[in-house]
Amino acid sequence: MERTNSKRLDSFELTIADIAEADLDALHALSMSVGWPHRAEDWQMVRELGKGIVARDAIDRVLASAMWFNYAPDFTNIGMVITSPRLQMLGAGLWMMNHVLARTGSRAIGLNATRSARRLYGSLGFVAERTVYQCNGEAVAPPEGSLPPGTRLRTLTRDDLDEIIALDLAAYNADRTHVLARLLGVSKGVALVRGDRMAAYSLCRRFGRGHLIGPVVAANDADAIAVTRPHVADHAGSFLRLDTRQKSGAFAEFLAQSGLPVFDTVTSMSLRRPWLVEKTGSETPIIYGLATQALG
Ligand SMILES: CC(C)(COP(=O)(O)OP(=O)(O)OC[C@H]1O[C@@H](n2cnc3c(N)ncnc32)[C@H](O)[C@@H]1OP(=O)(O)O)[C@@H](O)C(=O)NCCC(=O)NCCS
Repeated sequence: MERTNSKRLDSFELTIADIAEADLDALHALSMSVGWPHRAEDWQMVRELGKGIVARDAIDRVLASAMWFNYAPDFTNIGMVITSPRLQMLGAGLWMMNHVLARTGSRAIGLNATRSARRLYGSLGFVAERTVYQCNGEAVAPPEGSLPPGTRLRTLTRDDLDEIIALDLAAYNADRTHVLARLLGVSKGVALVRGDRMAAYSLCRRFGRGHLIGPVVAANDADAIAVTRPHVADHAGSFLRLDTRQKSGAFAEFLAQSGLPVFDTVTSMSLRRPWLVEKTGSETPIIYGLATQALG
């Protein structure tokens, strides 16, 4: 029998299937294979909130994934794009993305690209817009600070959903009601109230290695800090994460002082129309913290 030191094996034959049919543990194994922190529960959550596809080999192993989250009226966020390391650089990522683009039609698309994916998306026409700073670490009790004058904090309840949706829509420019409704049910939420109006809100939930603060929506750094501080205080001593596009300024400094330095960056990219329209005027709310990179 021939026993050489190298042998060429047949390449994989992949078929596309609906992610809803994939085994949760297989998805979890796939994301772990590329070093992502998602738990099976985190996969379960994104599967409830979006649509997706997986690529399976001949013996039904899940070797790639891609998801998209449709927000009203015509915006889609793409996420959870993964190719198993043994399959990378062979065109599977591009093949999956072409399937996703065919299924999302003419909708405007946003995504947060890791370094390894940026060129792939660029080759599909996606344009880089902003950097997202993934800030995480062991939280430390945040520096003391007073609330902005004329404001108070309160805990969110399910009854606040409509007000959160309105604030989020003004900041995100697309309606992600179903995401917010689901996250509110599993998060601790804080609102900053000015007069009788909600000026800022934040949610915090279990995710990955610990807890994640997001979304955070506010019109300025002081308001954003006010709704973020209680979550940092709650989780002092344990792993905490917040993804933000704030590179510098009071909010970025607050995160660094809270034990959440920049751990990694990704790039927000868009297709068909600009996504992150610059806001002028301090009254307009913006996204200070992402729900997750996949959900935007
Ligand atoms: C990003 C990721 C999905 C890309 O998947 P992939 O299957 O390697 O993607 P592709 O093979 O289609 O393309 C990757 C590169 O390989 C190149 N390539 C494709 N076919 C090739 C071939 N036959 N020979 C050599 N190179 C090839 C592509 O040109 C591309 O290079 P470029 O982007 O520098 O032009 C994968 O690397 C991954 O899962 N990374 C970890 C998780 C992650 O970061 N996901 C992205 C979230 S936004």
